[in-house]
Amino acid sequence: MREVLLTPPPAFAKLADALAEQGFYVDLIHMKIVTLDDSVSTAYKYTVFKYQSVAEAVMKSTQRVFSPSSKRRSGDKTFCEFFAGIGLVREGLEPSGWSCGYANDIDPKKRQAYVARFGPSDHFHLGDVGETDEVARRVPGRPFLATASFPCIDLSVAGHYRGLVDGFHSSTFFGFVKLLDALGDQKPPVVMVENVPGFLTSRRGEDFAIAARRLADLGYWLDAIVLDASHFTPQSRPRVFLFGMDADLKPKERPQSGWLWPPDEISPLRPSRIRDFKAKLELSTGWVTVPLPRPPERTERLADAIDADDGQPWWDEADVRRHYDMMSDRHRHQVEGIVQSGTRWVGTIFRRIREGAMRAEVRFDGLAGCLRTPKGGSAKQIVIAIDRGKLRMRWMTPREYARLQGTPDFPLVGTTNQQLWGFADAVCVPAIRWIDLHVLTPLYDSAASTQLTGGDPRHTFVRK
Ligand SMILES: C[S@@+](CC[C@H](N)C(=O)[O-])C[C@H]1O[C@@H](n2cnc3c(N)ncnc32)[C@H](O)[C@@H]1O
Repeated sequence: MREVLLTPPPAFAKLADALAEQGFYVDLIHMKIVTLDDSVSTAYKYTVFKYQSVAEAVMKSTQRVFSPSSKRRSGDKTFCEFFAGIGLVREGLEPSGWSCGYANDIDPKKRQAYVARFGPSDHFHLGDVGETDEVARRVPGRPFLATASFPCIDLSVAGHYRGLVDGFHSSTFFGFVKLLDALGDQKPPVVMVENVPGFLTSRRGEDFAIAARRLADLGYWLDAIVLDASHFTPQSRPRVFLFGMDADLKPKERPQSGWLWPPDEISPLRPSRIRDFKAKLELSTGWVTVPLPRPPERTERLADAIDADDGQPWWDEADVRRHYDMMSDRHRHQVEGIVQSGTRWVGTIFRRIREGAMRAEVRFDGLAGCLRTPKGGSAKQIVIAIDRGKLRMRWMTPREYARLQGTPDFPLVGTTNQQLWGFADAVCVPAIRWIDLHVLTPLYDSAASTQLTGGDPRHTFVRK
């Protein structure tokens, strides 16, 4: 017997749509198509949850949420995802009714994972974003949103901080900008650019300034935040999100003496680096402040994401000992304390070179380290588990990577390294959902209601 997870299941989508019409927020938990030998018998298993609000559904659900938004029917809540990877931006946006009209990536292995999740479709363009004419020809109509998670390598130590301009990989950002320009009347009114925190600091901030100016020169008003996946899943993964919006979508101005908007409050979302850019970096358009609540407190524990049973590929004693010996005295002491206490505990380890020697660095804060693309043993995350005095270790599995990225049932295709690579390069799905809930869908709704009422959208996009 072979079990295939088939998503999205058209029959379920219809059911969910029908329920959504009646005001239910629906979460698909489980659906399988079971094939017995060659004779295909199909069995669907649904678990339907009802939530009080879409916010509750977004926070509690792990799968796709079908919300009863009337806007879903308008058909124009469309987006294009550039640098799509395995499609976790799409994974985060689709539940609230966004429809992807074009996706693009140069990596056939990423495409393989994307297709395994979303099914074969013409809209995934396996090609270089820099092929402007070809990409522009494929973008359908005028999408409302374009997302770009461009490669981070040159904005980090891995790429020797070569930067946005000189870095071979990260300079693909300019291909994205050129494409937006080439789209002319089809240029989306909203863009979201995502990258690592090094985006803010690379070449002393010059790279972020260049990126912001280029988007502003295309007519976008900008806001930026840092959102850490740790608000949603037990993983430390801060990411910079730069939003651009057409002038008629700007949030309502709230003048204060000397300021168009009051200065941003100090918050983890807008740390001083971002506030400094907003205060000092002049743009041909300007900065705006999208009103945002504080991100939620995480409820998921690391132990929820990690499999601790005997069936896991635990290392033999020699490998465990080797890594135990690689720990600093302080970490070894802490581990020993947990072993002696007889309690159950899970944590993670990264190997790092410190002062010329390989160290096994343990995290005790209940978070996994930021998932990284597995270029070598030190980029791969190690699980450390203690259960009633027994110390065990092993590599973290792709399924655990998927859980930490908030997409626990994402299909796994290709080699283990390919799977780890796909997830480590991707966005954290509930973080995208949160952004959708508080930034992207409100922008869309504001534009949609303006079309309906002819009103000024700046008065519709106001939040307390
Ligand atoms: C940080 S990853 C984005 C991952 C994606 N957000 C996800 O959730 O899976 C950057 C992606 O850009 C792709 N890429 C690199 N150069 C590219 C280019 N010139 N054109 C299109 N995609 C490119 C890489 O293959 C990689 O998948």
